[in-house]
Amino acid sequence: MTTAMARAAGRRAEETGYAARIGHVSKSFAGPAGPAGPQLVLDDITLDVAPGEFVGLLGASGCGKSTLLSLVAGLDRPSAGTIETPGGRPALMFQEHALFPWLTAGKNIELALRLRRVAKADRRTRAEELLGLVRLNGAYGKRVHELSGGMRQRVALARALAQDSRLLLMDEPFAALDAITRDVLHDELTRIWREENLSVLFVTHNVREAVRLAQRVVLLSARPGRVAREWTVDIPHPRRIEDPDVAELAVEITGQLREEIRRHGRH
Ligand SMILES: Nc1ncnc2c1ncn2[C@@H]1O[C@H](COP(=O)(O)OP(=O)(O)O)[C@@H](O)[C@H]1O
Ligand SMILES: [Mg+2]
Repeated sequence: MTTAMARAAGRRAEETGYAARIGHVSKSFAGPAGPAGPQLVLDDITLDVAPGEFVGLLGASGCGKSTLLSLVAGLDRPSAGTIETPGGRPALMFQEHALFPWLTAGKNIELALRLRRVAKADRRTRAEELLGLVRLNGAYGKRVHELSGGMRQRVALARALAQDSRLLLMDEPFAALDAITRDVLHDELTRIWREENLSVLFVTHNVREAVRLAQRVVLLSARPGRVAREWTVDIPHPRRIEDPDVAELAVEITGQLREEIRRHGRH
């Protein structure tokens, strides 16, 4: 399934020992004119994602999770510090599927393949393969409006994988789905992460989701975002969101998250 290019990028990440390295990153935005001055959103964040690792990045809304992800994606530049992704440009997936509604599922994926200059003759086969990987065989010719919310996120995942990066950045990709659909997609993501040996940085404000998916959960403090604490999650797979082990750790982390929100007097 993985191509030579992705394998080479994967090797570069293996050699350096990390898929992403966030070193002392701060970010401020120019605030409204006046005495307030620039607004510090991220403050001295240092975090590595190891090759093949699944990291859950957790924090209250507004703490800077999306900002950090956009910096790792190279969509914006840090005000201070460094970001390294030795495997090349990461793949991205958002809460909004951002598929083109006038294209079919297959053509949405082929567009991503075209952008990375996959030969025209190979695009259809590769798009079908990627749809198979997200278990949407047969959806090639379906238009976006014919697909359910869960199916759209599957196509969005297939399109992210079409970018052929071993580092996948996900920003609350399942937040808009109902609980059952989300649960199924958690299983699929876990399977694909392992089969494709991806490194994943998964942003969420949902504690249980982070514990359900990640090997390591990193909690950001509320404004400005700093690394407050992290937990290693050694609960074996397959995990269920309702497993007692998952629930127990989620209760502990939620306590810390509440503390962070309380300390900063906002939510
Ligand atoms: N481009 C921008 N310009 C100014 N402020 C921004 C910009 N992007 C984000 N912010 C501010 O940064 C803070 C963190 O936002 P965000 O990263 O979206 O948080 P999260 O994803 O954790 O909910 C918010 O206060 C937001 O208003
Ligand atoms: Mg966000």
